[in-house]
Amino acid sequence: MSTLEIKDLYAHVETKDGIKPILKGATLTVNSGETHAIMGPNGSGKSTLAYTLAGHPKYVVDSGQVLLDGQDLLAMTPDERAKAGLFLAMQYPVEVPGVSMTNFLRTAKTEIDGKAPSLRTWAKELGEAMKRLKMDPKFASRSVNEGFSGGEKKRAEVLQLELLKPKFAILDETDSGLDVDALRIVSEGVNRAKEANQFGILMVTHYTRILKYIKPDIVHVFADGHFVKTGGPELADELEESGYDQYLPEGSDSESALA
Ligand SMILES: Nc1ncnc2c1ncn2[C@@H]1O[C@H](COP(=O)(O)OP(=O)(O)OP(=O)(O)O)[C@@H](O)[C@H]1O
Ligand SMILES: [Mg+2]
Repeated sequence: MSTLEIKDLYAHVETKDGIKPILKGATLTVNSGETHAIMGPNGSGKSTLAYTLAGHPKYVVDSGQVLLDGQDLLAMTPDERAKAGLFLAMQYPVEVPGVSMTNFLRTAKTEIDGKAPSLRTWAKELGEAMKRLKMDPKFASRSVNEGFSGGEKKRAEVLQLELLKPKFAILDETDSGLDVDALRIVSEGVNRAKEANQFGILMVTHYTRILKYIKPDIVHVFADGHFVKTGGPELADELEESGYDQYLPEGSDSESALA
């Protein structure tokens, strides 16, 4: 049983126009086996939260704490955070030309486990995981995400999730851009991985359609850099009906949140 605690987190990014505060007191606790859905307007800071947890150097923490089983995650480098059990499926997965998927996955697995997986079982595990995600075996020899379609990139993220077996997985819009079949395949991959490893999930999404496949225990509204409301699965339907205007700061609306 593991716990990820985010406590009153404030973070900013430096832009050419100066400092832009983005996270403004984000507080959340996730336990193993729990699925939390995070919904909120564009530009409210959901991806920033994901990147800050993973250790993206652009996002500077001003105050607050993040603890993984009591360990100070913010004091760790991004690779140490991954080794501690944190996984991020990015909203826009990065292309890495020149590094093949197989090399990347095997290196990541070796680093996370502290030892290289045995060649025979690894090849079998990788092949089976790709098959279940309906990925053509040819993807194994292609460069990481290079030239992948939007949906193929999302499948590749879930492939990593299945193989790396983290304690906590942040899925940043893993459902965006997927066709109906891919949405089911990707969701089944997440559910399979969760069943096998009972990790905690933070799932950022704009749509209730994925929540039909990956059932959240808790739904949060994230607006203006922090969590503003928490509820059960019914909150997601409510949001789809009424939008986010009631959660936005006075004088703004979903449109101006983009400004
Ligand atoms: N590197 C950066 N430089 C400048 N501004 C940034 C940077 N990163 C984030 N921001 C700004 O911070 C705000 C939050 O962005 P973020 O990507 O976290 O939002 P989001 O909630 O994930 O939105 P979406 O639902 O559209 O994915 C936005 O206004 C964005 O433009
Ligand atoms: Mg985002």
